Amino acid sequence: MTSFRMLALTLLSVSSLSTSAVAQATSERSAAELMDAVMWNREPIGGPFALVDQNGARRTDVDFRGKLMLVYFGFTYCPDVCPTDLLQMALAVDQLGQAGQMVQPVFITVDPERDTPEHLKEYMSLFHPRFVGLSGDVHAIGGAAGAYRVYHKKVESDDRSDYTVDHSAFIYLMGRDGEYLGFFPPGTSAKQLADDIRPRLAAGR
Ligand code: NI
Repeated sequence: MTSFRMLALTLLSVSSLSTSAVAQATSERSAAELMDAVMWNREPIGGPFALVDQNGARRTDVDFRGKLMLVYFGFTYCPDVCPTDLLQMALAVDQLGQAGQMVQPVFITVDPERDTPEHLKEYMSLFHPRFVGLSGDVHAIGGAAGAYRVYHKKVESDDRSDYTVDHSAFIYLMGRDGEYLGFFPPGTSAKQLADDIRPRLAAGR
């Protein structure tokens, strides 16, 4: 009896712990609501963030003033969509040539538990030497994701041994003063990205 009660208490504390961890790592708003906010331009996008890059340095949105920013939220264990989009972002920067120096590609993880700065260092190098990969605690990540209206939800496998993260996958373009310029849908090609960005660089805006 005693051992059963102890077991029950242990299970209870483990499950309440994991519930709160999941809650913090998941959007409070629904996927539909957040997708609408972006697609129909219903809410402001972007804002301040304070995160940690793949070299362990603290980085804020202000560090990137003066450049255009391409911002993407995802997670490194994403099997398909994230790597495809990150590759196109990297190729777009190269296609812009010298002017591409004024475009900063930024990846912000929605899976900070696994995507530590050390892990991001290896992952970002697969795409582009100038890619900045950002992680942080769940509150800092949740704040950044909320500001960009990013949907993200931790989804555990049936046996709870593993998890994936459902997330919206827009590529955000931010201006030199950090202002929101627009989004590209997932699957946008490097050429489309570069063609949209090139005239902005030429015009200095
Ligand atoms: Ni993904």
